[in-house]
Amino acid sequence: MVPAYVGLQKVVGADLLRYRSIEALALKPGDTVIDVGCGPAYYFNRLPNPLTYHGFDTDQRYIDHATRKYGDRGTFHVGIFDSAAAADLPAPDAVLLLGLLHHLTDDESRALLELSASILAPGGRVVSVDTAFVPDQGRVSRWMSENDRGEYVREPEGFVGLADDYFDEIDGEVVSGQGRIPGAYWLMRMTAPKSA
Ligand SMILES: C[S@@+](CC[C@H](N)C(=O)[O-])C[C@H]1O[C@@H](n2cnc3c(N)ncnc32)[C@H](O)[C@@H]1O
Repeated sequence: MVPAYVGLQKVVGADLLRYRSIEALALKPGDTVIDVGCGPAYYFNRLPNPLTYHGFDTDQRYIDHATRKYGDRGTFHVGIFDSAAAADLPAPDAVLLLGLLHHLTDDESRALLELSASILAPGGRVVSVDTAFVPDQGRVSRWMSENDRGEYVREPEGFVGLADDYFDEIDGEVVSGQGRIPGAYWLMRMTAPKSA
């Protein structure tokens, strides 16, 4: 079941989006990363080594799979990432939210972004990438956005609106045609937390 999920991600090109999101963070060896909604973390080998890595996911099967594959280099936790979980961890240089926000309500997303902003190390950044609705989307792409498993697919402005109470600098780009099947995604990088 988990290998099928990972295989499907690669067929549709979701892996390329993850690699691009990781590149946008310009991580260095020795950095600390928190990956919320990490799933099986099949992109783990694209992260620098060594790294202090903590992945969180609510699905035990994904965490078991990730632990088997990458548990020698990272720590995987079952559950949501909240302030109690954050209190036990070092300040991250980066928080990854890859394919997560379009599964969360506005309130859940805001709580997570506020927490992420409040714990970042100096110079820290957050990256998200999500299925989106964008203008001039082709029919197949729109169908894919409408039928995504995430219940909260938004327009880019919707994602930016979740973050702008917590970060002074937000930049993003629509990525489409990146996958092997057409789809539209919003890749967003958030820096300069207002809480700093
Ligand atoms: C689309 S998957 C993305 C997984 C992985 N980041 C990737 O890019 O392949 C979204 C993941 O978020 C997890 N999830 C959903 N709500 C969550 C929450 N509140 N806290 C942590 N994980 C959550 C799901 O179990 C699922 O594995």
